[in-house]
Amino acid sequence: MTISEDGNRGPLRSRPRSTARELERYGALFAERTKVMRSSAMRDLMALTERADVISLAGGLPDTTTFPADSYASLMGTVAAQSCARALQYGPTEGLAAVKRCVAAVMAAEGAIVDPGEVLITTGGQQVIDLVCKTLLDPGDIVIAEAPTYPGAVPTFCSYEAEVIQIPLDRDGMRTDLLTETLDRLDAHGRRPKFIYTIPNFHNPAGVTLSLERRHALVALAAEREILILEDNPYGLLRYEGDALPTLFSLERDFVIYASTFSKILSPGVRLGWTVAPAPVMAKLNIGKQASDLCSSSISQYFVSAYFDSGPWEDYVRSLVGIYRLRRDVMLDALAEHLPREAAWTHPRGGLFIWVTLPDYIDTTDLLARALEERVAFVPGRAAYLDGRGGSELRLNFSGVGEEEIREGVRRIGEVVREQVALYGTLTGVPAVPASQSAPAPAGSLGGRLTGSAASPGAPGAPAEAALAPVVSLRRTRA
Ligand SMILES: Cc1ncc(COP(=O)(O)O)c(C=O)c1O
Repeated sequence: MTISEDGNRGPLRSRPRSTARELERYGALFAERTKVMRSSAMRDLMALTERADVISLAGGLPDTTTFPADSYASLMGTVAAQSCARALQYGPTEGLAAVKRCVAAVMAAEGAIVDPGEVLITTGGQQVIDLVCKTLLDPGDIVIAEAPTYPGAVPTFCSYEAEVIQIPLDRDGMRTDLLTETLDRLDAHGRRPKFIYTIPNFHNPAGVTLSLERRHALVALAAEREILILEDNPYGLLRYEGDALPTLFSLERDFVIYASTFSKILSPGVRLGWTVAPAPVMAKLNIGKQASDLCSSSISQYFVSAYFDSGPWEDYVRSLVGIYRLRRDVMLDALAEHLPREAAWTHPRGGLFIWVTLPDYIDTTDLLARALEERVAFVPGRAAYLDGRGGSELRLNFSGVGEEEIREGVRRIGEVVREQVALYGTLTGVPAVPASQSAPAPAGSLGGRLTGSAASPGAPGAPAEAALAPVVSLRRTRA
């Protein structure tokens, strides 16, 4: 059987739904935790957006068409010729020494110095999030995350029955002042989070970057209060403007678990990421990984090692930076042209995403259904929260499709947004401002509801975020 380019066998079929009878039959067998497990919005969306006629600005996909097929063939040829039996074999849980040396080189490019022996190779950066939760969380334990947070971490936090407190972001990343207040409040109740999950560089989904001042504040808080930070840094090397900032890991090694991945600088298909953590934590992560998958793919690791041996790996990253910078600029221009004045969006200095905030009366989950009729997709904001917030926000990706599709996709989104604004205007008498007069939000702003200031002058009243982040209680399933 052949598998088509989009990975499907034959025509696209939707996942079969369970009948009530089947659910009853199997229901008693499921673990309690399955009641709070959540499907990943992005994974669900992927099925929809695989439709060839849909312009997908929903995925977080790097553009793998930029990797030369002949290089891939020649690297795999090298693996076959030099390491066939070993590539087809199990490997050590912590990963191949050669790949750990590659990791040390990649981290050094961001000024983070590690000994390869300290690295644990994982099955993508996603596995680090899973292993950290597995290692640190009992049901009901508190995790601090950003608001919004990486949508792919949401199902993981749910699976481990965490209580997640989301701290608002502004253009300088996580509001460390609000974090301090939240930690104080928890402390007063005798509670301490297990870890703080943060994406400091070119945040997914918000596109913002944690300022230097806040980096220092964050690691100081963690060290003072003995709380671990999970620093998730897949995008640090995809910088389109400005100077690099130090990783949290290089500022404070005792309380930082560092996570990154080859997904965005080489290929997500190799499914290889890594972590470096304080030694006692690392020992547990390693045991957790043994139980999960024994080791990450040897074939992928030999491929990565051959790739790093074949020439300067930075060249390909540089080429990606050039391509994505242009696409980001095209998307920013298209947003300014097509979104109404009532919208605000971030100006990422790197990474893959722009976060858009629409007026409160627009629900982006409903808007997606309408957008799909116009054959364009985005990620609705609720996917990035654990408490149903984010209803008027959405994430756009600019790396996965070419410039023409970005322009056309944003034009279509602009059309459905303006339709909603006009409808609201008809119902309330508030006139819509034509796109031609629209003024983008100040660079870096996340929009009114997140920053506490109006998204743009004349925007319908967006209440400022409450001073403290709410504690989000997931339903407890055990006493
Ligand atoms: C913030 C963040 N963490 C982790 C991941 C997972 O990446 P990987 O492909 O390495 O599993 C992603 C992927 O988009 C991401 O954006």
